[in-house]
Amino acid sequence: MSKKIVVAIDGPAGSGKSTIAKALAQKLGFVYLDTGAMYRAITYLAISKSILNEIPEIIELARNIDLKLSFENGITRVFVDGVEVTENIRTPEINSKVSDISRIPEIRQEMVRIQRSLGQKGNLVAEGRDTTTVVFPDADLKIFLTAALEERAKRRFLEYQEKGQVTSLEEVKKSIENRDYIDSHREVSPLKKADDAVEIDTTFMTVGKEQEIILNKIEEIKKQTEPQ
Ligand code: DC
Repeated sequence: MSKKIVVAIDGPAGSGKSTIAKALAQKLGFVYLDTGAMYRAITYLAISKSILNEIPEIIELARNIDLKLSFENGITRVFVDGVEVTENIRTPEINSKVSDISRIPEIRQEMVRIQRSLGQKGNLVAEGRDTTTVVFPDADLKIFLTAALEERAKRRFLEYQEKGQVTSLEEVKKSIENRDYIDSHREVSPLKKADDAVEIDTTFMTVGKEQEIILNKIEEIKKQTEPQ
């Protein structure tokens, strides 16, 4: 049996992590792990229970959460305690609060524990802002995606428009800037490029080209890891 392959994709908000991670997982038949969805789900739960400022209670919530992610036909579905929250976790409100929740060390500890246990199950594409540095430091392939702030804001703005969510490009840009700042300056697992990650700037790149570059790298890894 050939070795399990873990691909970890890191990078700031709107750099295109989800798009490429999903495409790769589908193409390769790998499990797709959307770590951001997990932090979003906790944030959503904290808001709906009105405990956003009660850190010990949120930590308790994270320790006991029954969190399930499924990925079918290109869509990540998220269930908390058996209830689907897929639509509820991608709103401007969650976006503006999730960085504050994900900077809490005990919450990260719980999430990383769940993420690693998923990583032991099979070939995996994991996506999120510490997947290359903390969750899977031994990943077979580490990718760090970047893109200019303007471009990232434009992508998120279009996503909101498609969903009919009302916001302005300027607002989205500010929110991304703010998230970038908190994510890269937090004490625990800040957003940063791992030394051995391959950096890809997607500002002027199509998803197809990006996919081609990464698939070539995965092919090289497969060749190296396959038994002779
Ligand atoms: O990738 P995303 O936009 O869905 O992530 C939402 C937030 O969750 C992001 O602002 C930071 C946090 N996050 C994190 O701290 N660590 C991860 N591995 C993934 C996301």
